[in-house]
Amino acid sequence: MQVFSLSSPILVTCGLPYANGPCHLGHLRTYVPADIFVRGMRRMGKEVLFVCGSDAHGTPIVVNAEAKGMTPKELVAKYHSHFDEVFRGMGVNFDFFGDTDDPACHNRTQEMVRALMEKGYVYPKEIELAYCPKCERFLPDRYVEGECPYCGKPARGDECDQGCGRHLEPGEIKNAVCKICGGKADYRTQTHYFFRLSQFKEFLLEYLKTLGGTASARNYALEWVRQELKDWCITRNMSWGVKFPGHNDLVVYVWVDAPIGYIAFTEEWCARKNADWQKYWKDDAKIIHFIGGDIVYHHCIFWPAMLKGAGYTLPSAVVASGMLKIDDKKFSKSRGNVIWVKDDYLDRGLHPDLLRYYLASYTSHNKEVNFSWKIFAEKVNTELVGAFGNFLNRALTFTAKNFDGRVPDGDVDAEVAARIKQTLKEVRSSIEEYEFKKAADSIMALADYGNIYFQSREPWKLIKVDKEKAGVVLKNCLQIAKALVVLMQPFMPSKMEEAWRQLGLDGRADDIAFDEALVILRSGQPLGKPEILFQRMEEAAVKDLDSIFKERIREAESKERVKSVEKKGMISFDEFQALDLRVGEIKEAGRIKGSDKLLKLDVDIGGETRQVVAGIAGAYECEDLVGMQVVVLTNLEPAKLFGVESQAMLLAADVAGKAVLLRPSERVETGTRVR
Ligand code: 2FM
Ligand code: ZN
Repeated sequence: MQVFSLSSPILVTCGLPYANGPCHLGHLRTYVPADIFVRGMRRMGKEVLFVCGSDAHGTPIVVNAEAKGMTPKELVAKYHSHFDEVFRGMGVNFDFFGDTDDPACHNRTQEMVRALMEKGYVYPKEIELAYCPKCERFLPDRYVEGECPYCGKPARGDECDQGCGRHLEPGEIKNAVCKICGGKADYRTQTHYFFRLSQFKEFLLEYLKTLGGTASARNYALEWVRQELKDWCITRNMSWGVKFPGHNDLVVYVWVDAPIGYIAFTEEWCARKNADWQKYWKDDAKIIHFIGGDIVYHHCIFWPAMLKGAGYTLPSAVVASGMLKIDDKKFSKSRGNVIWVKDDYLDRGLHPDLLRYYLASYTSHNKEVNFSWKIFAEKVNTELVGAFGNFLNRALTFTAKNFDGRVPDGDVDAEVAARIKQTLKEVRSSIEEYEFKKAADSIMALADYGNIYFQSREPWKLIKVDKEKAGVVLKNCLQIAKALVVLMQPFMPSKMEEAWRQLGLDGRADDIAFDEALVILRSGQPLGKPEILFQRMEEAAVKDLDSIFKERIREAESKERVKSVEKKGMISFDEFQALDLRVGEIKEAGRIKGSDKLLKLDVDIGGETRQVVAGIAGAYECEDLVGMQVVVLTNLEPAKLFGVESQAMLLAADVAGKAVLLRPSERVETGTRVR
């Protein structure tokens, strides 16, 4: 277990989100537990600074900005404010949320690179780099695609993302193709700068043994260091980024300035507060990085080596979160297997604390979280509504009704006090050990205990025969309720603020120490108005949310299909077979109000009638169509035209804009498949 002394300040950071797209649930898997940790530490009386910011540089941002017709700066500004808004909305309260394009980050990066150069840790070397002769430019990172030199799988830019997962150095990629023009790239020589990572092997082997945080991160990094440590190329041919000192045509690799952002943001915050940033980065501070499991290499190897080389304080802990699955499938933006935090959650009026609770309590921090709307609703309904909320509400409403809304007289039972004490101990140690699920489980176990206590003491019977005794039971229940609210505050800050008010307590739950859970409620203290804290999630709402998600997957699949057809220029036999073409018979035909092109048809496709909207009004008279057999595509997604739903499509030849319907050359049974 890690021990935090009061004398050394604590700095907590979160991996910087690329300002290149909206915030999704996968992001929150890291940020929410980090926020819980910070709040928990503060409840334990620790001084904690919590910083993060947008990762503004790197080729994907430049490529994406170009595609959107924006400058990289504009794109970064857009997503920077998006993340800022979403984090606030989710109650993830950074003390400072910066941007790696801030001057502070440029300055600190150049200072550190210079320090590394002076100490001989950075050296120039000529390397062969992918160069596009048509675009007349070198192709850094995402500007190039090709083959991984280690495993032969398709790779893009700086990582072998479909194969062995290795970081690829500039020039390493084989059979390079230019991402801009699609042409074959060749290789040309250029001088770049390298960081002597290989010299840090002994240091890292020792350092990593002492590194706190999740064991998975530490062990993974040790494995890498034991195997191989190659020097890192830290310059790129680009203009967007932090200039490499003394070379206007080079910027530093994004993974150099991104973590330096942690220092720069600390400096920026300290400048505002008139504090000394060096107490975090030059003295004996506890630096704790919360990151996603996919960037352990950068934080446990590259980053500590840079800090050591340049003379800065080393991180004490790297806390890596497990990945996120949705509906038990790998999270994937391109496959539509994604939940957008703003559009799909916050903007639908869902309370941030429910999601915070889900993410923290689903499983251990280093394990994989599976998200589904169904499990979400189950957790809300059983744990938050059924156990936690129910207990609070029973204790409060019963007291309001029978004790004039005041805390009754009486002592807290020794057993209840011991139970609260035990929970407090468990929550403290679990949070210090980054075991957020354990902490949440302990709190929920106290809520269960409270429900059993209430149920077994039967205050509703007692009140009729011995009001004083009933009062003592309620006093105990309210004390449990207070402890629950105090301990749950880091997980559900906004809901616990409401509950704090309902308990009629002074100040804000956000300022209350965990130890306050043990401070006995004053008899006679007025309570607030009891209100339902958590609403049940009804089945219909869950279905709606799920259908939005499923629709996105369908859309992505059909986009994928179109893309693959475009890529191949042909469709496979299987793809053709997927078209459900049948002979149908037109049963009725009529005009559509407001349109002189469209007709509304009822078409029998063999025991089933479909409404079809067809653009054939100029070519056919309604009465001629009735009884006609035509070819119908029946498994096309329904679409609305002029407000009328079309549930299939008729096949027709386009003769100079006039539709000529395809018809079988002889009458066949209606519904016959066309192959
Ligand atoms: O992987 C990522 O999303 C990076 N933007 C994380 C950077 S974290 C740090 F080093 F700054
Ligand atoms: Zn590979």
